[in-house]
Amino acid sequence: MMHLSTIPNRASLPLMQRALSRLATALRKVADTLAAESAQSARIESKDRLGTSQAEGSVTDLTAILDTRLGHVAFVGAGPGDPDLLTLKARRALDEAEVVIHDRLISPAILALVNPSARLVDAGKEGFGPSMTQEDINALIVAHSRTGARVVRLKSGDATVFGRLDEEIDACDAADVSWHIVPGITAASAAVASIGQSLTKRGRNSSVRFLTGHDTKGFADHDWRALAQPGEVAAIYMGKKSARFIQGRLIMHGADPATPVTVVENASRHDQRVLSSTLATLPADLAGGGMTGPALTFYGLAPRAAAEAQNDIPQQELA
Ligand SMILES: C[S@@+](CC[C@H](N)C(=O)[O-])C[C@H]1O[C@@H](n2cnc3c(N)ncnc32)[C@H](O)[C@@H]1O
Repeated sequence: MMHLSTIPNRASLPLMQRALSRLATALRKVADTLAAESAQSARIESKDRLGTSQAEGSVTDLTAILDTRLGHVAFVGAGPGDPDLLTLKARRALDEAEVVIHDRLISPAILALVNPSARLVDAGKEGFGPSMTQEDINALIVAHSRTGARVVRLKSGDATVFGRLDEEIDACDAADVSWHIVPGITAASAAVASIGQSLTKRGRNSSVRFLTGHDTKGFADHDWRALAQPGEVAAIYMGKKSARFIQGRLIMHGADPATPVTVVENASRHDQRVLSSTLATLPADLAGGGMTGPALTFYGLAPRAAAEAQNDIPQQELA
């Protein structure tokens, strides 16, 4: 006997999700075209009145509405911890989120800003040994977005810096889940501001490296010979545990042991601390400092006050 049912069986659900996702893409294209057309005419009007075009925002908004109704992931940079360093876009994403999947480093002050009706999911990972594998996190993001919820994947700092963002994007792409990125302030920017320095300076360093102290395989290798040249500057993420390794590599390649090294813990947060050290004494200073929070290590930079005092010392005293 033939059995008719309007309820899809479980096996056909992924197909339906794909079909819906394709429909969403098609609708998005239509929405983009319509919004672009109306933006074009609104631009002509509003430019006269306001001197600027506000209509461009409507394209993004309309697209986002269509995306979020059918399940969408916003990869949002939460900044270094101070809620005042959230972008307005990030703040809005937190207001509108239905599910927020966050990293361990997201500060309580920022989590407090999440829409109270949203579900908070802690996808915390510890350096050197994740408590949740990256594959689990990818699956979590895809599973939540497929419920149709507005998902925010909240990452510390800027999502594009040492955030394993591409793996999560690849998982979304493979599952036909749409996504966009909201940039944030990376830890290096907040930390360098706290010591009154610039990441680059004319006549000192015309480039700056962002390095990781360790990667998935252990201590990370870099072009130590190039970094050991005088005047070079690097912002080292996850550098505390690898301080001795980094020190050894740089000295082996000829770096001056007196090169300034500054460690900023909990940059931008109320418990921020700054450790002013040198390449020669870094591991010992770190061991004595008892730093347990996230820390950014600057190779080649001293806090401005210390650097100026050093410059004031007559050269014969340094000889
Ligand atoms: C997995 S990486 C993520 C970096 C992040 N995406 C960013 O742009 O800042 C984590 C590392 O960032 C650094 N970090 C993050 N927040 C920090 C903060 N508030 N102060 C100092 N360093 C921080 C630390 O080196 C920490 O171990």
